[in-house]
Amino acid sequence: MKNLDNLARAILQGNDKGAYTIPTSGLYPYQWNWDSVLAAWGFATFDIDRAWTELETLFQSQWASGMVPHIIFHEDDPGYFPGPQVWGTGQTPPTSGISQPPVAATIAAKVWGMDPDAGRERIAKLFPKMLAWHRWYHEVRCMHGPATITHPWESGRDNCPDWDIGMAGVDGSKVAPYERRDTGHVDPEMRPKKEEYDKYVAILEFGRDVGWDDRKIMEEGPFLMADPAMTFILLRADKDLLAMAEKLGEDTAEIQGWIDDLTAAVPSLWNDDLGSYDASDIRSGAWANNISSGAFLYTYAGIDNPAMDKRTLDAWDAVTYGIPSADPKAERFDPQRYWRGPSWPFMNGLIAIGLQDAGRDLLAERLRRETAELIRKGGFYEYFDPTNGSPCGGSDFTWTAAVWLAWAG
Ligand code: DGY
Repeated sequence: MKNLDNLARAILQGNDKGAYTIPTSGLYPYQWNWDSVLAAWGFATFDIDRAWTELETLFQSQWASGMVPHIIFHEDDPGYFPGPQVWGTGQTPPTSGISQPPVAATIAAKVWGMDPDAGRERIAKLFPKMLAWHRWYHEVRCMHGPATITHPWESGRDNCPDWDIGMAGVDGSKVAPYERRDTGHVDPEMRPKKEEYDKYVAILEFGRDVGWDDRKIMEEGPFLMADPAMTFILLRADKDLLAMAEKLGEDTAEIQGWIDDLTAAVPSLWNDDLGSYDASDIRSGAWANNISSGAFLYTYAGIDNPAMDKRTLDAWDAVTYGIPSADPKAERFDPQRYWRGPSWPFMNGLIAIGLQDAGRDLLAERLRRETAELIRKGGFYEYFDPTNGSPCGGSDFTWTAAVWLAWAG
């Protein structure tokens, strides 16, 4: 549909700050890691050079440890909390101190596929940086087997019920006074609650107070949970990185080792009582007991699991538009509150990549159709109510425009 294509391009261009793209003005005024990677996928459909620049800018802020931060604060913006001073990471430009799901190798492989000749030089320069990021993930965040997160924001699925048990143990009562800015931009009913925010800030303050020391954060931090989405996204990205290494004539042994180890850790995410992949608290061993978008990414990782197929369809069939971010039959389901139920077009896009690769074309097409319907009816919003299609969160949203161009439209 031409008009919507033009609108989607205009949204990407409107959020383009020259060499990086913000998710949406007001609510998210900086460069966010996975938002930016998805922006590259959208740009690749009409401006391939700009797509590569997006990825290159992101990796310019890689830490010496290999970690690629979840926010890069290129320009100060008082309309966002917690800004660079609160994170206190000492990086230039300032960044946050945690990472975000590594979709980069997967999307970079797609961008390369859209620019096979000229793209070789650019991917060859990005390759060692992606390799170093994955090494950091495997050595630091995967030290317990599956991929873990040290802050709900690291998962990118901030207030998903997956994290409720981990958050229950965090003391948010002693955080320095602060003023939230997100609720000034969108309806507070669609955002995480105050108690959650206090805890987000408390976990951040712990990281800052230990100088963002990975070892201390993993061993003593207030929050450490195994994340199915992070595990599946990393595993998928490892596989794409391996294929890239083969094409570039790079050594593949280390990456193959990561794939073997992470694949071996996947069964540890299976909660038998729930009959689903599930998040768990690493320290207590307790399950989250929640079926979420994290679990639904198993096909994206190339994992075959008929019992999970059934779970996914049950959740999907219970709503009208796309795959919900949390189980619609669960008591905690909240169809408009951020990650506690809504359908996210970019998540649907990632799940569809997995369905397509597994040869499940009909399901992939159904997901595309339902996602396109949401956008056609509601516009390029951040996410949508999966029961009635109401648009939620930020408007003119980069990753919604990007997945429209690259996949849904
Ligand atoms: C926020 O500010 O809500 C972000 O999701 C943190 O990354």
